[in-house]
Amino acid sequence: MKSPLLEIVGAGALAPSADNEHVFRAEILEAGIRLWPTAEFAALTTEDRLRRVLGMLSMGAVLENMRLRAVELGFAVQVKWLSGSGSEPIAQINVQRAESQTSDDLAAAIPARHSNRRMYHGPVLTPHETAQLNAAVAPVAGTQLIWLQGAARRQALGLIWQAESERFLRQDLHHEIFSSIRFDLSWTANAQWSLPPGALEIEPPMRPMFKLLRHWGLMRPLTWLGVHRLLGLRAGWMPAWQAPALGLLVSPLPVEEGAVAVGTALERLWLQASLLELALQPLAASAVLMQPSTYAHGASDALRATLAAGWQSIAPGTTPLMVVRMGRAAMPSLRSGRRPVEEYLLPAQK
Ligand SMILES: Cc1cc2nc3c(=O)[nH]c(=O)nc-3n(C[C@H](O)[C@H](O)[C@H](O)COP(=O)(O)O)c2cc1C
Repeated sequence: MKSPLLEIVGAGALAPSADNEHVFRAEILEAGIRLWPTAEFAALTTEDRLRRVLGMLSMGAVLENMRLRAVELGFAVQVKWLSGSGSEPIAQINVQRAESQTSDDLAAAIPARHSNRRMYHGPVLTPHETAQLNAAVAPVAGTQLIWLQGAARRQALGLIWQAESERFLRQDLHHEIFSSIRFDLSWTANAQWSLPPGALEIEPPMRPMFKLLRHWGLMRPLTWLGVHRLLGLRAGWMPAWQAPALGLLVSPLPVEEGAVAVGTALERLWLQASLLELALQPLAASAVLMQPSTYAHGASDALRATLAAGWQSIAPGTTPLMVVRMGRAAMPSLRSGRRPVEEYLLPAQK
């Protein structure tokens, strides 16, 4: 039984995570897998809502990959969610050999799915493509995919610009973003964890400057000149503005449960997009920076209030948890790697 279970863990590891560092470690059971939080994730308190939500979004995607792969391998699957805080596991997946399991086409896209940060082009999504994307998300309870169009799209672009700019304006957010980039590597090298710089698709003449901006001592005085707004324009507004489609995933559930549902839906949307050869990039900031954090220099109260009010007028009564842009594009210069699957097991099981 160990080797199919290891394959299922491997499918989970191929799921996306905000900074390409998974927050789980797997325990292989007799007929299932228990997912424990890493020590760092377990230590987060309920006040660390921002980082908990990012982790649970990713775990929704991880579990969906595991479920899809297990079904493809001929198992009936049962998924049980636990809290993932303190000494509790995040989730457990139980599998049982099944006679007649019909696997989901989405499973085939697990190894191919990737983030694409290039600029996108048209043509716009066809009604058939949109219908297939909607159908991929529809089975996930507690979430809704909203295609941002017209006035809602214009309003969302403003929120995206403000939120992406804040990532370069506030010291803790600046640290969070730059510490997840592997500047120890060249622009052509891949990485097994965190983000290889080449995956960011930054224009070659801009690369030396961007690398220097990892120093807060330089970034801070530049914010007085409004440079964070220019970076937010390039990192958020521009790629979202020129993308043929912008989607918003929301949930009416309590926020952590909602994050699991949205993470599941995000992965299904992304796998379906891969099958349709459509490019996708998550742009999480405008949705998640609304959430409280324990950062001394995190998103300002003013920005959080602006985001909350803006999204409420677009999707009343729900919590926004993810924005994605979609379109057509060449393959990315680099697809981020993963650690060998054994490294995602509990230390005692390696
Ligand atoms: C919760 C979450 C938030 C993310 N936020 C962003 C984002 O704001 N910008 C971005 O370019 N990628 C974002 N990503 C994509 C990850 O950086 C990416 O999945 C990870 O580096 C692994 O690369 P891959 O998707 O190519 O496998 C996010 C992914 C997740 C799951």
